[in-house]
Amino acid sequence: MQILKNTAAELVSAAASDLFAPATLTADEVRTMLEYPPDGSMGDLALPCFKLSKSLRRSPMEIASKLAEKLSHPAFASIEAVGGYLNFKKDAAIFASRVVNTVLEKGDAYGAPALGEGKTVVLDYSSPNVAKPFHIGHLGTTVIGHSLKLLHEFAGYKCVGINHLGDWGTQFGKLIVAYKKWGNREEIEEKEIDALVALYVRFHAEAEKDESLNDEARAMFARLEQHDEECMALWRWFIEISLREYNKTYRMLGITFDSYNGESFYTDKMPAEIEKIRKAGILEIDDGASVVNLEKWNMPPCLILKRDGSTLYPTRDIAAAVYRKNTYDFEKCIYVTSAGQCLHFAQWFKVLEMMGYDWYDGLVHVPYGTVSIGGEKLATRTGNVILLKDLFRQAIDKVKGIMKEKNTAAGDDVAEKVGVGAIIFYYLSNNRMRDINFVMEDALSFDGNTGPYAQYTYARTCSLLEKAGDAGKSASLLAMTAEEAELSLVLSRFPETVTNAIAEYEPSIITRYILDLCAAFNRFYHECQILSAEDASVRENRLAFTRAVKTVLGRALSLICMPTPEKI
Ligand code: ARG
Repeated sequence: MQILKNTAAELVSAAASDLFAPATLTADEVRTMLEYPPDGSMGDLALPCFKLSKSLRRSPMEIASKLAEKLSHPAFASIEAVGGYLNFKKDAAIFASRVVNTVLEKGDAYGAPALGEGKTVVLDYSSPNVAKPFHIGHLGTTVIGHSLKLLHEFAGYKCVGINHLGDWGTQFGKLIVAYKKWGNREEIEEKEIDALVALYVRFHAEAEKDESLNDEARAMFARLEQHDEECMALWRWFIEISLREYNKTYRMLGITFDSYNGESFYTDKMPAEIEKIRKAGILEIDDGASVVNLEKWNMPPCLILKRDGSTLYPTRDIAAAVYRKNTYDFEKCIYVTSAGQCLHFAQWFKVLEMMGYDWYDGLVHVPYGTVSIGGEKLATRTGNVILLKDLFRQAIDKVKGIMKEKNTAAGDDVAEKVGVGAIIFYYLSNNRMRDINFVMEDALSFDGNTGPYAQYTYARTCSLLEKAGDAGKSASLLAMTAEEAELSLVLSRFPETVTNAIAEYEPSIITRYILDLCAAFNRFYHECQILSAEDASVRENRLAFTRAVKTVLGRALSLICMPTPEKI
């Protein structure tokens, strides 16, 4: 309906400057005042004129009736004054033509909000912990994070995607100890991350029986921190093995990062920030550790240094934020992690503010809920995990089976796109804060509100247009069916849908929009003859509708990392 708002805003702005000179009113000002009346019988759009009476020095009634008298436009069937309101009723057919033609003219750029020009956004997402499995818990940060990157890019921001690898910390002490005791190079080269995870799991099992292993691991990590050459070589190798694995999944999802600077990258950047915290007079000693007290904000203290002087997760995040601000001069730096880390982010964001960094309000934490499978909780230490690659593999295999049954001509590459898409779509169907229980059958159903259904609808638009040749390049409707009217409304909502998804950091707003668009298109497809319409202009209009749907649906799917095969 943005189109309708823009048209009304421009009309009112021009008329007001004529009627009420020397007072002026910009289209932007009017746009923010326009409302959608809750009761459709009053019209499709309303301008509450009491908001104008001060600046225009007239009563709301007078403003509304003067404007109503002067205004007319083909997009509106009527423009009337009722009380202090100016009510607009759209002309449905003209409105629909405008929507379709706007989509066709703008093409892939339709709906792109002009928010980000000249601005940079840094997105920190996915960020698995090296040598730990890349499991279903990482699905959220990976696909929400990447969708947010795509949405911001669409809005014109320059985006920097960072994989803040968990490549430092005591787990490396454990892993090196485990490798030296029970590991073997050939096996790791062959089984890659699975072998590393097995070592990690074994370490925890053995440490249950023999406490001293933990001391050994701590000592080993201390050696790594002092850059002991043997430890460093093993550490580098573990990272390389892990990345090999992650990249397989990223490739399937079409994700690349601009930087893989993980936690270790900030080792030499921390001392300056710790010094700054000290100088700000907020570093306190608490039971031997150095902390920043956050009692005033009802939070536990933020840990900066352990008793033995080693740094912690928040310390590295503080140094990373400062480095990123200096390097990229971001407007926003977005962190996508599970909701379990809300306190961590709230704490160190506050510390950064206390340190005097006035850009602290550009830091945004985007949390999400937990995932379980069959109601089971997942934990790395016990080895009870579902790996992302296995989840995708399972989905792809099942899709292959379904396609065989359906006898479709599509090849393995399409099965991969549908299988991967099914998981992404299923995951992004809910508000991100909702905890979800994964049910593979639901994700893969071709009939429900699923990824395969959305992709199938997209493929349907492609095959219609393939048969249409050049037809359907623009719409000019005089009358239309209820299905066409509804479809035009859904298409018109795309721009504001994108804006909302960005404002709320919520890709599921796009997912739900996709389902609305698919439903409206499929009703139109079933009720209205398209290729076979007898009247040439009706056929032309319906193909234009189809083309507009293909454009918007394809764009919407790609904004949530969904592959868009043209044939299924
Ligand atoms: N590696 C962390 C984990 O797996 C997530 C890192 C998120 N990013 C950050 N800058 N803290 O829990």
